Amino acid sequence: MQLTSEELALFNRMLAHVSANTSLLRMDGFTQHGDTTTLWHCIAVAYYSLWLARRLRIACRVRSLVSGALLHDYFLYDWHDPDPGHRFHGFRHPAFALRNVRRDWRANRIEAEIIRRHMFPLTPIPPLCREGLLVCLVDKGCGLAETLWKHRYRRLKKLCGDALRAPRTHSETV
Ligand SMILES: [Fe+2]
Ligand SMILES: [Fe+2]
Repeated sequence: MQLTSEELALFNRMLAHVSANTSLLRMDGFTQHGDTTTLWHCIAVAYYSLWLARRLRIACRVRSLVSGALLHDYFLYDWHDPDPGHRFHGFRHPAFALRNVRRDWRANRIEAEIIRRHMFPLTPIPPLCREGLLVCLVDKGCGLAETLWKHRYRRLKKLCGDALRAPRTHSETV
């Protein structure tokens, strides 16, 4: 389940772009499942969504797919904290994430749909675009791997870690 070197280069350019223009790196301070932070959960969901789209030859808007997936859990808190504001996290965090994304990033319609609907079927309305369906599916797979097998994405960290160290001022259009 590995992107080709060309796909990986594209993915890392997009990761660097999103990381340099949002607070994506803050998510490395929050636990998602098991030993995985929200940052690496989101990178994994983006990486495997692109992998699946390419392998199944699903026509989709790649930039929106990757940036929407990278930002799908951009709620920017640790959901394990017993803060009353985090109650019903499972149902509410897509809206929290979308609110933060709209503050920090010019989200297009596809990205907003990915973020808003990714918790289906816990939330009632399914994603109405292919990109959203892909992320919704891959998110479940990654969540399961992180919870059941304590997946820590060691390989992915080697493949993509450098993209996160791109300068903060990086704002090149990808
Ligand atoms: Fe989520
Ligand atoms: Fe997620």
